[in-house]
Amino acid sequence: MSLTDAATARSTTPTSHPVRIATIGAGRIGSHHAEVVARHVPGATLVAVSDPVEESAQRLAAALGAPFVTTTVDDVLTADDVDAVLITAPARSHTDLVVAAAAAGKHVFVEKPMAVTLEDADRAIAAAADAGIVLQVGFNRRFAPGFAAARAAIDAQKVGTPQLLRSLTRDPGPYTADPARVPQWTIFLETLIHDFDTLCFLNPGARPVRVHAIADALIRPDAKKAGHLDTAVVTVQFDNGAIATADASFSALYGYDVRAEVFGSGGMVTAGNGRSTDMTYYGPDGLHADTARRDTDLLHSAYVGELTAFFDAVRGGTPAVVTGQDARTALSIALACIRSVETGSAVDLDR
Ligand SMILES: NC(=O)c1ccc[n+]([C@@H]2O[C@H](COP(=O)([O-])OP(=O)(O)OC[C@H]3O[C@@H](n4cnc5c(N)ncnc54)[C@H](O)[C@@H]3O)[C@@H](O)[C@H]2O)c1
Repeated sequence: MSLTDAATARSTTPTSHPVRIATIGAGRIGSHHAEVVARHVPGATLVAVSDPVEESAQRLAAALGAPFVTTTVDDVLTADDVDAVLITAPARSHTDLVVAAAAAGKHVFVEKPMAVTLEDADRAIAAAADAGIVLQVGFNRRFAPGFAAARAAIDAQKVGTPQLLRSLTRDPGPYTADPARVPQWTIFLETLIHDFDTLCFLNPGARPVRVHAIADALIRPDAKKAGHLDTAVVTVQFDNGAIATADASFSALYGYDVRAEVFGSGGMVTAGNGRSTDMTYYGPDGLHADTARRDTDLLHSAYVGELTAFFDAVRGGTPAVVTGQDARTALSIALACIRSVETGSAVDLDR
């Protein structure tokens, strides 16, 4: 039985009380997830906040009324009154935290990327399967209403056989981060990984087989020699013949923008339009639409949706809807992109 099969076959124990949540990481996205738990979803309660920076943990817990604060992850993993953890620490700590949480019997929601090597992805999947816990990965775009509707249209055969797909991410500019503090390959491992998952989500059942990536430092060319990349285009070929492109930029001056398109033998679907509301202002200077500056604004309902699905899985003892295997597939594309940039050639994915 494959690891995925094992994870699916093993049912978890349903719970009747609200799911008691601890956050591991009280930074930008951890704070937003904690607020979603505390204020926007029924059936879950925030009981603990953990972050090595005590001030961050204290501030978040105080704002949301969480009773327990700690700088030590072990404190939440050994606490009897914690059912599940949200892992929102930096990317390279995710796998070890997933494995430790699973060993402690805690259900896990982990932000992307779940791992940055395939060996670590397998380690996380195996740990979750062995422990029989729910392991869900933070591919929130699947829960954005337009993206979910696009998938429903594809499932209803309205698009026919997917032939051309695209997915893009434009982070809001201007770009103010210090490139020296951004880990190498972030554009593939942390940004485009959303697009790789979106392409797989919108081409259900198909397997990515070949990847070609081009990347450059167009926003901070001065940092390119040190390995900085802030702009990329990727092509992905699938085993059902579909050809996909994904692209990303770290600096869209008009705001945060994520979109997708699937063109098939029977029609086309698009999702996302970069607009924060559907209001259009008509005035003497023409038409004006508002955009969002932050992912947590543009995709707020998607963040609520993914955590609601996680809590439903924990409460119902059902499998996660976005799995460790989904994370592994998206990661395999990201790692192929890195090899492609290094070699200048297309890269075949292993089966
Ligand atoms: N799905 C999404 O839309 C989305 C959006 C933003 C970030 N993310 C992902 O979430 C993760 C965190 O991103 P962020 O922007 O919140 O980063 P951040 O730097 O704002 O926050 C990280 C926090 O984790 C804490 N931390 C560091 N090591 C820790 C450990 N071992 N245990 C617990 N806490 C620890 C830090 O002190 C910090 O408070 C990244 O992997 C990122 O890619 C996902």
